[in-house]
Formats: sequence, structure tokens, C-alpha cells
Amino acid sequence: MKNLFFIFFITMLNFKSYAQKFDNIAETPPMGWNSWNKFACNINEQVIRNAADAMVSSGMKDAGYEYIVIDDCWHGERDADGFIHADKEKFPSGMKALADYIHSKGLKFGIYSDAGTETCGGEPGSRGHEYQDAIKYASWGVDYLKYDWCNTGKQNAEASYTTMRNALYSAGRPILFAICEWGDNKPWEWAQDIGHMWRTTGDIYACWDCEEDHGDWSSWGVLKILDMQDGLRKYAGPGHWNDPDMMEVGNGMSVAEDRAHFAMWCMLSAPLIAGNDLADMSAETVAILTNKDMIAINQDSLGIQGFKYSSKEGLETWFKPLKNGDWAVTFLNRADREHQVNFNWEDHQIKDPDFEYTVDFKNTLFSLKDVWAQKDLKTTKSSFNAVVAPHDVITLQLTKK
Ligand code: GLA
Repeated sequence: MKNLFFIFFITMLNFKSYAQKFDNIAETPPMGWNSWNKFACNINEQVIRNAADAMVSSGMKDAGYEYIVIDDCWHGERDADGFIHADKEKFPSGMKALADYIHSKGLKFGIYSDAGTETCGGEPGSRGHEYQDAIKYASWGVDYLKYDWCNTGKQNAEASYTTMRNALYSAGRPILFAICEWGDNKPWEWAQDIGHMWRTTGDIYACWDCEEDHGDWSSWGVLKILDMQDGLRKYAGPGHWNDPDMMEVGNGMSVAEDRAHFAMWCMLSAPLIAGNDLADMSAETVAILTNKDMIAINQDSLGIQGFKYSSKEGLETWFKPLKNGDWAVTFLNRADREHQVNFNWEDHQIKDPDFEYTVDFKNTLFSLKDVWAQKDLKTTKSSFNAVVAPHDVITLQLTKK
């Protein structure tokens, strides 16, 4: 009996040591593309291959984007043993061939499932098949799993996401685990050791400040989602990011709004998952998505989200601490009219409300670069004066002299 107890104890110890999330993934916010925002269920292997081709030819891969993620509606049926297969009509070459194609371009492959009995699109969910699905994904060469929360009944969110985390880990292939339960169960409080990122809100919608009513749920414009991030920055950091949802850049907002949306996602250290048709982008869309300085602010190795420093009549000033004592500053104009910025640095002492970063511009001098105009400016010795257009941003990179 004693021996039996000992064996049980050792087995549990081993089990525990094998139940964790994969380390050393998403040390900076993940960058990639996901099919949902533009294509919804109208996907097939050609759509996905085109996105991979365009990620390379547009310069996005060189700018740091790497994941090509297939969202909902790729599924066929489960076989007699319960293993999932891809829809044969949409993906005639199969998922392994598609993954190989994506990998051959130097990119990574992501897929989607759901913790419940069915996905949000009514496809087979992973409930009760977690370990089988994880084995299947690993055998296909999956690098990223977005795991949704539809049709979960009374399931416990933390337990459900832990089960899938453990299943992925036991399948042995390092896979980024993207939790998508829309912030309903406050994943920022429990998911740090479970997933590499977690959605903080319901779905995004390609508009500046609207609520799109779908009956029993709503999707949200950029400013609505931005405001819902309030209070969450202290929970994020390398390997565990707040995810304010995939981007809508290139999906119908104005160029200024797209620029502001992208700048704010960079200031928030958000995962940069493009959601537009990469094979059909305007020059402006490419320029926004590949702005190297803005991406460097997002990818800064400190991994500290920006915070709202001040707000007046729709003009917000955001600060983001960067490595080596540098900072990024964004002036966001939410309003329908122009705003004049007169920012006299030496009048401001900046104190991060959640982390130990401070700056007193009387004591420390910075050089300034306008990230969107790609222009070096004067230093923080003199006041910064500029006009921010409606629904637009000015972002400055402050480098310590
Ligand atoms: C949910 C998610 C979306 C998308 C759809 C797919 O709404 O939040 O991002 O994955 O499901 O059906």
C-alpha cells in the first residue's frame, strides 16, 4: 500500500512537471496575419497561400511578421477514432502540405479551435478531444493555436484552457497558445502560465468609435476597444500579452484612422496580427503595417505597455517606456476636429503608474524622431508644437542623449 502511494505520488510529480505552457515563445508581441477579419468563413488553401506569398512580397516578413493563422471554418469531420480532418473541398492538399508551404517561405503556421463542443462558426470544437487535436496539430506542423470560447456551456474557463495547454505540451511541438475568451473570465488574472496571449475584449469592427450590434453580442470600433484596455497593462509582459484583437488596418477605415489604430496597438504592446487581404493592399496600408520605427516600439524588449498620461477634449497623450531609458510618445486625436499640440517637455514629470519608470525632462535630454513623418526633430529642450489631424496620431521616438 505504501509502495502504491509512493508510485502515485511520483507519477503526480512527473505529471506536474510535464504540464506547463511552452517557454521562450512570444517574448515580444507576436506578429502575423489571421484570415477572420477579412475572409470569415470564405477560406480555402489558395487564400491562405496567397496571404503567405504576399506577406513575403509586401515586405511584411522583413518587417517582422511571421505567423499565418487560419481562423474558423477550416474543419472537415472527425473520423471514427475521433481525429479531426480538414475540409477536403477547401483544403484538397491537406493541412500538412499547407503548413509545409508556409514553412518553406520562412513563416509559421497557425490554426483555430474552440474549447466548447462547437466553434463559433458551428464546426467541431475540441471539447473532449483536446489531446487528440493537439497530436493532430503537432503532426501537421502547427506553430500557433487560437482557442475560442463559443458553445462552452458551464465549462470553467481556467480549467478548459489549462487542459488544452497541457495537451499541447504533451504533444511535444512548441505551439504559441492564444486564448480567445473575450475577457469574459478576466484571463489576465489567471492565464499568465497558461497562454502566451489572451483576448481582452469582444470582437473588433473596422470603424473608429462604433458599436456594431449583432443581437445578443456586439463588436467594437478601435476607440471602444482601446478604452476597454484600461487597468490591464500591469498584467502583460514578455511571454504573456493582452490581446485587444486582430487589426482592421486596410479593411475600410480612413488612412488616418488606420494609422492611429496601428500606432495605438504598438503603444499597447499588442500582438500585431493583420486582418486584411495581404494580396490586395494599397501603398498606404503597406506603409502603415511595415513602419519599422512603430514596430520597434511595439517589439521593444522591455515589453511594457504604454499608458495614457493626459486627456483633454479628445486629445490624448500616451507614454511608453522603452529599453535603455528611451520612450515613445503618441498624441492621439480622437476628435472630429484638428488639435494643436504644444508640449513643453520641461513642464512634465512622467511617472509610470504601474512600473518603476520615471522621467523628468528637466534632467534628461532626448533626441526626437517623428515616426510617421520619418523626420528627425529638435530635442526635448524646446517645446514640441504641431497639429494632429482628426482621428490621427503623431508618434515620437525619444532617444536618450
Ligand atoms: C469569435 C472570435 C473571432 C473569430 C470568430 C470565428 O467571434 O472572437 O475572433 O475567431 O469567433 O468564428
